[in-house]
Amino acid sequence: MKARVVVHRDFRISTIDERLYSAFIEHMGRAIYSGIYEPGHPEADAHGFRKDVLKFVKDLKIPAIRYPGGNFVSAYNWEDGLGPKDQRPVRLDLAWRCKETNQVGIDDFAIWAEEAGIDMMLAVNLGSRGLEDARNFLEYVNFPGGTTWSDKRRGNGREAPYGVKMWCLGNEMDGPWQIGHKVATEYGRLANETAKAFKGFDPTIETIVCGSSNDGMPTYPEWEREVLEECYENVDYISLHKYFGNKSKDTLNYFGKIEETGRYIQTIGGVIDYVKAKKRAKNDVHICFDEWNVWYHIREEDGRRIKEWDWPEAPALLEENYNFEDALFVAGLLNEFIRRSDRVRIACIAQLVNVIAPIRAEKGGPAWRQTIYYPYQFASLYGRGDALNIAVDAGTYDCSVANDVSYLDVAGVHDKEAGKLTLFFVNRHLTESADLDVSLHGFANPTLADHIAMEGHDLSETNGPITQDKVVPTRGSGVGVEDGKLKGKLRPLSYHVLRLDVA
Ligand code: AHR
Repeated sequence: MKARVVVHRDFRISTIDERLYSAFIEHMGRAIYSGIYEPGHPEADAHGFRKDVLKFVKDLKIPAIRYPGGNFVSAYNWEDGLGPKDQRPVRLDLAWRCKETNQVGIDDFAIWAEEAGIDMMLAVNLGSRGLEDARNFLEYVNFPGGTTWSDKRRGNGREAPYGVKMWCLGNEMDGPWQIGHKVATEYGRLANETAKAFKGFDPTIETIVCGSSNDGMPTYPEWEREVLEECYENVDYISLHKYFGNKSKDTLNYFGKIEETGRYIQTIGGVIDYVKAKKRAKNDVHICFDEWNVWYHIREEDGRRIKEWDWPEAPALLEENYNFEDALFVAGLLNEFIRRSDRVRIACIAQLVNVIAPIRAEKGGPAWRQTIYYPYQFASLYGRGDALNIAVDAGTYDCSVANDVSYLDVAGVHDKEAGKLTLFFVNRHLTESADLDVSLHGFANPTLADHIAMEGHDLSETNGPITQDKVVPTRGSGVGVEDGKLKGKLRPLSYHVLRLDVA
């Protein structure tokens, strides 16, 4: 397959907001308990956090993390997680039909986030609760002292406020499964009042309002219009969620879902523009894609288990084993976020540890990196700078979710300060290599500095606690710069990160 690609340093989409590579972690399954937190584990630090897991987290250079939910937040009392651990209440988690021991609360999680070097993005409960509890939470987290809630925080050992700037106004409020589910205007009004109060407290706070739970919801995209019409001036982002899978075992169609996601982003961009115009508003609202990942391998099985179980504590849940095909998918989806970075400013992989996660950890046992860890890591490490608008001519295919899907998926990021151009490629072709001919315009003396590849695997290969390094990146070969052009071959079903030194 001939693959003609044109890159120009001046064809800029936008400067990428580094929060495009954020993550999400929820009190559910073994994400927190025996995921990041396991006192008694040989790797536990003085606070009970697992150092082996923390190391993998740090290597991802994650800028921000959304916490504590997810569906969980819609019936969560944040103050249950404060103070001496032996006095914290055990509550029913109505979202996942489990028991929540509250051994990790906001002050504990903040310690972990600080250790990991990640900013917190906190969600408030607008399901079973409302503005009153949200503003108390804000006061506890962000006010210096001398008030009821800020002094409680100081009494709990944390003198300085956390200074959290990103606040999610509930979670998936359009979903009938959500505790305290609302209709759009009802939610939009509550979100507006909450956002107004938060911005009155501190105008530099950024608020994130819930869009649809996914683009298959019956109320999509009317939900977004109605909600934004209620709160446009007081919000900075609207959230999008989408999970993916290949149940039909049709690899090309699976990859086509990335194209479909592009349409989803484009549609919500259109709704934002429409409401902005209708309201004669001055402010911009961007997209916060704060839940995305592959979720299908054991989804149905988990659904059955949840219905049957008797309120367990931190059971294994949504522990998907990701294969090589999923890694190629995730690489392509991250490319789409880079291409759409003018609209999508924040995105969170859902989730981070054990629950639909790039990192897994056995209780009392080892931690390991799943296949999808690597494309997420490389996007986060090297996908910072200016996203470039790249022309690709490599042949296309039609599938049931999209037409004209390019066999070669490309995104490019120019980091001017570092003098680096990074090109991320996925060759989606099932049988043919991509014969690359990449012209590089506006860059003086480009030289290939690094070539990382994931290739040559069966699509079903996975990593596990024993065979941890079956699907890992390797040094790529066969690509080089000739007469100012990047030339070479990319094997079928392969992922490549090509880093060039550019002047
Ligand atoms: O990430 C798992 C769940 O998926 C979240 O709790 C919810 O927001 C979404 O439906």
